[in-house]
Amino acid sequence: MIWKHAVVLSTILAVSSSTILPFPPGFKFGAATAAYQVEGGWNLDGKSENIWDRFVHEHPERIDDRSTGDVACDSYHNWRRDLEMAEELRLDFYRFSLSWSRILPSGFPNHINEAAIEYYNNVIDGILEKGIEPLVTIHHFDLPQSLQDLGGWANPLIVDWFEDYAKVVFAHFGDRVKLWLTINEPVILCEAFFNAEVFPPAFISPDLGVYLCSKHVMLAHAKAWRVYDKLLKPKYHGRVSLTTHITWFEPLAPEYEELAELTMLNFGGRYSHAIYSKIGGWPPALEKALAEVSLKRGYSRPQLPPFTQEEIELVRGTYDFFALNHYTSRLMRTAKEGEKFTEWPLGDVEDLNGIIVRKADWAQAATSWFYVNPEGIRKGLVWLKQQYGDLEFMITENGLATKAGLDDQDRVQYYRDYLEQVLLAINEDDVNVTAYTAWTLMDNYEWNNGYTVKFGLYEVNFTDPGRKRTPRASAHYYANIIRTHSLEIPTTSIQL
Ligand code: BGC
Repeated sequence: MIWKHAVVLSTILAVSSSTILPFPPGFKFGAATAAYQVEGGWNLDGKSENIWDRFVHEHPERIDDRSTGDVACDSYHNWRRDLEMAEELRLDFYRFSLSWSRILPSGFPNHINEAAIEYYNNVIDGILEKGIEPLVTIHHFDLPQSLQDLGGWANPLIVDWFEDYAKVVFAHFGDRVKLWLTINEPVILCEAFFNAEVFPPAFISPDLGVYLCSKHVMLAHAKAWRVYDKLLKPKYHGRVSLTTHITWFEPLAPEYEELAELTMLNFGGRYSHAIYSKIGGWPPALEKALAEVSLKRGYSRPQLPPFTQEEIELVRGTYDFFALNHYTSRLMRTAKEGEKFTEWPLGDVEDLNGIIVRKADWAQAATSWFYVNPEGIRKGLVWLKQQYGDLEFMITENGLATKAGLDDQDRVQYYRDYLEQVLLAINEDDVNVTAYTAWTLMDNYEWNNGYTVKFGLYEVNFTDPGRKRTPRASAHYYANIIRTHSLEIPTTSIQL
């Protein structure tokens, strides 16, 4: 990667009040959405209920503005406009997810909903017609309710259910989709879903549910990856990976270094080690620490279920690149005697006897869990490279939570600062980052925050029946980065 230094050094242009940093040739830019957050059409054309439909209808009080994703951005009808926006931004790729309960209303392949296949065919063909690449997430938090009723991610059979669903989508879309993500952010899926009352199924099971989920997600991903690898890759040459949420944890003081490392292994490593490490399985230090906790609690088996040797082999190596989503950072320190952990959804930090702290100079974004620390993305990438080797890294989500407004200079600054750190990771640390994805193309249903929190490059008017989309300042800024394939860093910093 030495050439990257040479390219950068020879092409840094000092323009009167700014510096222009190019991205490596071939680096790709995208933007992302997820089905439940944008589609709407919650019960149209044969779609069945998923866990979010059920939850927001039964528990409006758990959503900040008591809203639902019933209509959301109405992308079920407005998808052409979404693709126009992708074109306006000149995206290289557009990441979106498939709704399991739209494609398989029973949750199983005994009935494939043709209307859903047609909808996604139209979207995929529309993306390709614009010269953009589709990046498809197979599952992004919206489990069919029928499967939740059978235990959802805590039931070991879900490994096969997910494999069956993946087979269906590969068979229908695999001729045109060459980039796939199996499951979005297992850490959020497992922690938030089994540890927080504001995410469905709101079945609180910090000792068992979370850890069963962790194991089943890894096996489900691996089975789907192997189906693609065996049946589709030889013909279509596509690539498939899991997308992992990487929050950067650092020690509050040097004595907490081991704890911070263990926390990285817990949140990032628990969903990476089995796939990317040479030995496979859970991160050994984490598995040991959690087994000790289980014993202390009187369980006769580890709460984090061990992998069999066969399972280790099944999961190991099931990647084509490392996909990561990154937003925020935290500091770690050891809990004092009797001190209670309060931050959700990271409940099982308690199992590591840790307390999560915020650094005073990290600005808080417009939602409770989000502190801005651009260096976290670089440090996270370097950590991943140290752990798992010189892999190809694709950033599949990054973006800022704000309140309303078109002149979103805070989001502009966020993108500039985080992308600068990505470039430093590439140029100074030789991390092979090949893609960056803005979360999100447009304002959408931000889970338990409803419509109160905005992440969009485009503003969406949720009181307009047509859900009009309007570009924000950040959309113009991002389009400019893509057009120039470079980042302009002002020498004088912009204050928020
Ligand atoms: C999820 C998105 C979510 C975003 C901002 C990510 O963890 O994949 O669905 O909207 O964070 O909260």
